[in-house]
Amino acid sequence: MTIPASRRPCDPGVPPDLSSQSPAADPHESHDASARRVGGRGAASGVERLGRHDLHVADCIEAMRTLPDASVDAVVTDPPYGTASASKVQKRGSNELVAFNISWDHDLPLEWISEAVRVLRPGGALCAFTDAMAAREVWDATEHSGARPLRHFYWTKDNPPHNPRKNFQSACEVGVFARKPGKVLAWNGGGCTPNVYNAPIVAGVERSEHPTQKPVSLMRWLVRLVTPPGGTVLEPFAGSGTTLLACELEGFRCIAIEREPEYAEIIRARYGAREVLRAMQSGPTPDAPTREAILRQRSLFGDS
Ligand SMILES: C[S@@+](CC[C@H](N)C(=O)[O-])C[C@H]1O[C@@H](n2cnc3c(N)ncnc32)[C@H](O)[C@@H]1O
Repeated sequence: MTIPASRRPCDPGVPPDLSSQSPAADPHESHDASARRVGGRGAASGVERLGRHDLHVADCIEAMRTLPDASVDAVVTDPPYGTASASKVQKRGSNELVAFNISWDHDLPLEWISEAVRVLRPGGALCAFTDAMAAREVWDATEHSGARPLRHFYWTKDNPPHNPRKNFQSACEVGVFARKPGKVLAWNGGGCTPNVYNAPIVAGVERSEHPTQKPVSLMRWLVRLVTPPGGTVLEPFAGSGTTLLACELEGFRCIAIEREPEYAEIIRARYGAREVLRAMQSGPTPDAPTREAILRQRSLFGDS
């Protein structure tokens, strides 16, 4: 099921994750992506290896069909919001208005959810960003796919795009958190984790040419919360590879799927420059769970 944007009840305007700044020149071009194609397995979906990660350059449903049942520990993803249209504009740079009419963002995809839930281990978590007006549809589709939607989570922004209007300015994005029935695989946040993460929209050297890039710190927060040590995260809508990089920095394996070859090129380049990112993000992360929180979590869920 795919819901065209035109049939959705309300048009929320330009998605707020779009940077008000011009994308920086890609700082990663000169780096070796150290990617290698893997012969045989998944040949139809063009799977290749980036270190311990897999990158499928393919439609996500086709690629997920090549994955066994219950083979990933978490699904953390940022699918299209279905908000693009010919009449929509976004602000770039200080004053430049450009059309927001990206071909892959015209429709809200929902079919991927049942396939992702099949691939998810029992007790594993699914975290999917979406447009605020589509959160109900994603919630319902998740429930119909056999997972249990439990809560919304939010990314709040210090620096939403400057776009004056006589209305509230949207300074947050929402996601749906769900769990596949079974004993909880991982919750690395203690017992009282707020469902909010604050981070600025991506700018400067972290910014790639991808139009809807999420911050790496945000995706690190999510994968860290829901993935067991050394676990595997599935990201069916990889974009510029932010979730894959988050997994790299957090010590997880990522199965990333991206349909557009030009974005796959950005993923390879960003992966090639992962040490630059690691150095940039080497400071303490304020929301990292403390040892006490992890111990509290263990007693909470009866883990030894
Ligand atoms: C919202 S963007 C993800 C951006 C990403 N979080 C980042 O930080 O770069 C969604 C991505 O899904 C990709 N996409 C859309 N439909 C797809 C499909 N059926 N299979 C695989 N990828 C798809 C688009 O090309 C786009 O790059």
